[in-house]
Amino acid sequence: MAKTKLKLEEKIEKKDALIGVIGLGYVGLPLVKTFLKAGFPVVGFDVDRKKVALLNRSRSYIKHVTAKDLKPFIAEKKFQAAADFQGLAEADIIIICVPTPLDAHRNPDLSYVLQTTETIAEFLRKGQLVVLESTTYPGTTEEQMLPVLERTGLRVGRDFYLAYSPEREDPGNETFSTARIPKVVGGVTASCRRAAKAAYDQIVVRTVPVSSPRVAEATKLLENIFRSINIALVNEMKMIFERMDIDVWEVIQAASTKPFGYMPFYPSPGYGGHCIPVDPFYMAWKAKEVDHPTRFIELAGEINTFMPYYVVAKTAEELNRKKKSLKGARVLVLGIAYKKDVDDQRESPSLKIISLLQEKGARVFYNDPYVPESKGHRDYPGMELKSVPLTAKMLKNCDAVIISTDHSVYDYDWIAENAPLVIDTRNAVKKKRRNVVKS
Ligand SMILES: NC(=O)c1ccc[n+]([C@@H]2O[C@H](COP(=O)([O-])OP(=O)(O)OC[C@H]3O[C@@H](n4cnc5c(N)ncnc54)[C@H](O)[C@@H]3O)[C@@H](O)[C@H]2O)c1
Repeated sequence: MAKTKLKLEEKIEKKDALIGVIGLGYVGLPLVKTFLKAGFPVVGFDVDRKKVALLNRSRSYIKHVTAKDLKPFIAEKKFQAAADFQGLAEADIIIICVPTPLDAHRNPDLSYVLQTTETIAEFLRKGQLVVLESTTYPGTTEEQMLPVLERTGLRVGRDFYLAYSPEREDPGNETFSTARIPKVVGGVTASCRRAAKAAYDQIVVRTVPVSSPRVAEATKLLENIFRSINIALVNEMKMIFERMDIDVWEVIQAASTKPFGYMPFYPSPGYGGHCIPVDPFYMAWKAKEVDHPTRFIELAGEINTFMPYYVVAKTAEELNRKKKSLKGARVLVLGIAYKKDVDDQRESPSLKIISLLQEKGARVFYNDPYVPESKGHRDYPGMELKSVPLTAKMLKNCDAVIISTDHSVYDYDWIAENAPLVIDTRNAVKKKRRNVVKS
């Protein structure tokens, strides 16, 4: 028997539903773009007034969402950004994409999600769908958000809908934009799931409904823990193979020819970004509640956190071979973004490398075509650097160049031709050279 459609489902089908996205960062802004492209009107909310003002002038601050992506929608009044949240009352669907970092003790910091939930509760009305997309531990939607929203007297599943759908955004990945990545959706009730599925069916290639928000929350963490562990594994293998004089990159290439049961992960100077170094610890924290250790998570964290130290030690060793010390050496770090071709430096291992080099008395410079300035980091409050121009003279005048982020725009052969010593953490220089050391 066909179920009667929810009113919200009808609105979604007609593309009349007004979408409200809270948190217009690396996740929220691409989501705004995706809903706009699908024909929905969108309001974006952010506490950062500078971002709001830029967006309303059709200016973007994220490399992969351009001014051109937004301009026509602003002109047609299909999109506007706001720093006050009263407009939430009009939104039919409210999607939360605020940060979920760790606090100073590496415990989950849910303050952004909780504050946002309180704000939504002020404006909650019948018929609205609220979806949390921020990465978090299993239980957040039902244990933390639901009681706040039901304090309004409205009942979930009857008066409003609540769901969790993890963001799987991979910034800079041109093959998989937001619309091309399947979306997992877990609703608090069956009608919540239906409403959320109806919304995402309009914008993504496939919606994958699961039985509860907890399953959806756990899915996202499993994906990121899987990555963290595999990155750690390959980083450990790199250090072992290096002692055996075996090129880990050649081994990975050969292993990747196996058509089943193997998936390549690549060594790195550590891990970065807002997700992989952070999210596994959401699970580790929650696991304490059920009295279970998270040994894989801790071990992977240990190995990946050690990698910047390893790169700095390797640099010191190679300088030593040339009768030079790190103290006083001029070291150029290439790439400060946490991964190639993006402008995001959060949790970047390059920051740790720079800080360790500075501690040891090196004179450190960096170049990154996407990050002209590096400052205001919580973990490195004193760090204030500007990207230096990448010239042959600059390279020649350095004692060592560390390739930390393998941006595609760099000409690695030219870099290796001009620098006296290259520490290549990404296997970026393809030609074998005496002055290039893989690390
Ligand atoms: N960046 C990624 O690649 C990625 C991928 C998957 C999931 N995630 C998850 O998505 C969430 C958002 O990450 P992001 O990278 O977009 O973060 P971000 O820092 O780029 O963006 C968050 C935005 O939220 C705004 N904000 C903070 N508090 C707010 C509040 N109370 N109300 C309204 N806006 C507020 C900030 O000003 C900022 O613009 C996190 O949970 C993250 O783990 C990120």
